[in-house]
Amino acid sequence: MNIAIIGCNGMGRHHARMAANCGLRIVVCADVHKPIARALADEYGADSTTDCLAATARPDVDIVAVTTPTPTHTLYVIAAAQSGKHIFCEKPFGRSVEQCKEALAAVKKAGVKLFVGHVLRYFQEFEAMRAQIVAGKVGKPGFVKLYRGGLFPMGVNGWFRDYAQSGGVAFDSMIHDLDWLRYVFGEPERIFCQALQRHTPDHIDYAMATLRMKSGLIAKVIGTWAQPSGFRVEAEVCGDKGMFQFNSDEAPLVVAKRGASGGGPGMIIPASPVTASPYELEWRDFLSWIEGKSCARVTPEDGLAAVRMAVAALKSAETGKPVNL
Ligand SMILES: NC(=O)c1ccc[n+]([C@@H]2O[C@H](COP(=O)([O-])OP(=O)(O)OC[C@H]3O[C@@H](n4cnc5c(N)ncnc54)[C@H](O)[C@@H]3O)[C@@H](O)[C@H]2O)c1
Repeated sequence: MNIAIIGCNGMGRHHARMAANCGLRIVVCADVHKPIARALADEYGADSTTDCLAATARPDVDIVAVTTPTPTHTLYVIAAAQSGKHIFCEKPFGRSVEQCKEALAAVKKAGVKLFVGHVLRYFQEFEAMRAQIVAGKVGKPGFVKLYRGGLFPMGVNGWFRDYAQSGGVAFDSMIHDLDWLRYVFGEPERIFCQALQRHTPDHIDYAMATLRMKSGLIAKVIGTWAQPSGFRVEAEVCGDKGMFQFNSDEAPLVVAKRGASGGGPGMIIPASPVTASPYELEWRDFLSWIEGKSCARVTPEDGLAAVRMAVAALKSAETGKPVNL
């Protein structure tokens, strides 16, 4: 199958490699910046163009990968759907719930497949946690804490630093964890979020959300673009039979089981080493769905639901009030 990459810098380059690893042929690279499109196209012997809409409509293209800044996603999703192409769209699916609904309607009308890149569902550590939660290893989960922190990203022309475009860390980055919470623990009931979005003297963005899920589970999600260096992820899931703890700086996933008395020594289960990029696993899952072999782990409705949660987080931070979901 042939693929068009729309948006050819950070994630565009990454997904081009992942798609090529899966045997797809990159036939056109499109970007508003010609040198960026050409640089990627040259690596794959593809055409390059600044006419991104025309690229989505090329007859030789089967799949369109949308890896542009978030507010432009749904424009290309709709155009690709109207040309009958399957679509891989980076998360967040759109910048607003309305944008996502419009794109979803176009996808349904065209009968094409849309995959939204909620990659956390493909990280082996998180998938191992989910499998053990589903198997009842911590009993009934009651409390979850998720942390994701890194440098403030820039993006071409600094679009990440324009909060109106990227939504800041609460929207762009915490959406990974919000989606994973819903994936594993079911629908959310309400969210309360506080966010610090600074422009000066330096860009610092720190957000903290508390959610109550319909199951009664309480979750704390922290996202920062305030780390001076590096990238760190932490997860803690506490149930009535035990607790998982994961810190990407330290050991892989650790499972500590409560003894019969409720205390006692912990049991450590080392995670298996990561063998495949979760971004490549996304593509393999998407292709299997296109070929009718399986359903994808992420549905378009999941992409919409994640945006709804992230929009609610921003609204709560803005108003200082909890938002019902
Ligand atoms: N899943 C993940 O782990 C992950 C990580 C980083 C970014 N992302 C998401 O991927 C998307 C892209 O982020 P990025 O880091 O690659 O950004 P980037 O700025 O590095 O790349 C975006 C590219 O799109 C081009 N572009 C800008 N406006 C355009 C338009 N209107 N039409 C066509 N091209 C346009 C830019 O010139 C640039 O080359 C964002 O939605 C971001 O949230 C996901």
